[in-house]
Amino acid sequence: MEHKPVTVVACIKERVAGSSCAERGGVALADAVEQELARQGLPIGVKRILCLGQCEQGPNLRIAPGGAFFHRMTMDRLGEVVEAARAAYETARDQAP
Ligand code: FES
Repeated sequence: MEHKPVTVVACIKERVAGSSCAERGGVALADAVEQELARQGLPIGVKRILCLGQCEQGPNLRIAPGGAFFHRMTMDRLGEVVEAARAAYETARDQAP
């Protein structure tokens, strides 16, 4: 049986007023993490969404399902997201029936 897919959820919300993840580089971060996951051959997708409800702490990314949140993400910390996604994927794969 297949395990539940692991995904990196990235907020790319752009607001007219107020703080948003897109304003702080969320779109480029989503693209960069997607490229790095592919470069490493990991079968983990990036789902771009419009708000994770943590707008003041953006850019925000999260490992799904139910994984770690990454706030105030920067390009030089993207490795943290990739490694967390890899760990979640390996755990899900190893626990699959
Ligand atoms: S705008 Fe990104 S969490 Fe709300």
